Amino acid sequence: MIRFEQQRNFLKSDFLEFKKIKTDKNKGLPQPPSVKAYDSNAKIIALPPVTTDVLDQPNIYNCIKQRRSTRFYANEAISLEELSYLLWATQGITGTTKNGLTLRTVPCSGATHTFETYLFIKCVDGISAGIYRYLPVEHKLLYLFELDEMENQIDAITLEQPFVPNFAKRAAVLFAWSTIPYRSEWKYDVSTHKKILIDIGHVSQNLYLASESVDAGACAIGIYDQELIDSILGLDGTEEFVLFLSAVGRKKFKD
Ligand SMILES: Cc1cc2nc3c(=O)[nH]c(=O)nc-3n(C[C@H](O)[C@H](O)[C@H](O)COP(=O)(O)O)c2cc1C
Repeated sequence: MIRFEQQRNFLKSDFLEFKKIKTDKNKGLPQPPSVKAYDSNAKIIALPPVTTDVLDQPNIYNCIKQRRSTRFYANEAISLEELSYLLWATQGITGTTKNGLTLRTVPCSGATHTFETYLFIKCVDGISAGIYRYLPVEHKLLYLFELDEMENQIDAITLEQPFVPNFAKRAAVLFAWSTIPYRSEWKYDVSTHKKILIDIGHVSQNLYLASESVDAGACAIGIYDQELIDSILGLDGTEEFVLFLSAVGRKKFKD
């Protein structure tokens, strides 16, 4: 159908077209930084080291088999050790390339890793409620600000949820992944954008499986108010904007 044509074409491989393009990388323009800068005088929170001690369900087969989107959460905190593990599982750095790009716990086209992880923390032991950003190089949290009426704000951001209304505000933590597309556009030009969508799927799935392994549950959220969340997080909506969300909390109903 004609009205789907453009969107369908976006899903296809354009590698042969891409090969004809002189990218910013080919032009010799500088490679953009692989992580976002921050003020080193800001409040930084150390995260506990990631160990297997945190695992309630260490068997990957069971985690894959049991994974479901969880939208009912117990009124219980998750521990800082668990949060540390979930951040590592989704964006943790496990190596570097010879060009200085980061290699992480998730695959990513050309190791361009365009994501930043913002957290709406509501209920994590030992850490005050507020908005934070993950610092993957340091494996630390950057405290950004306190958000008034966080539950109402999360409700407004996540719009009318079709399955369980207003579920996201009851989660212990809301992950919000932004993308900085130029990290990949520099190298992949117009074929970047399909890759970014594929890349975020790996991140979200790791969060699902890692949550399952600590007896918590996650639910991906693609229905959200773009302008509202970008403005709350202070993102310009062009060079950086939110791409995907996921709520995480202790499960209310056990399997
Ligand atoms: C791209 C994407 C967007 C999604 N958006 C939402 C959402 O906004 N709200 C929601 O409740 N679930 C959302 N989900 C979860 C799906 O509804 C869920 O994965 C699907 O119903 C299958 O259920 P399962 O995950 O329990 O297997 C999303 C999942 C994906 C992959």
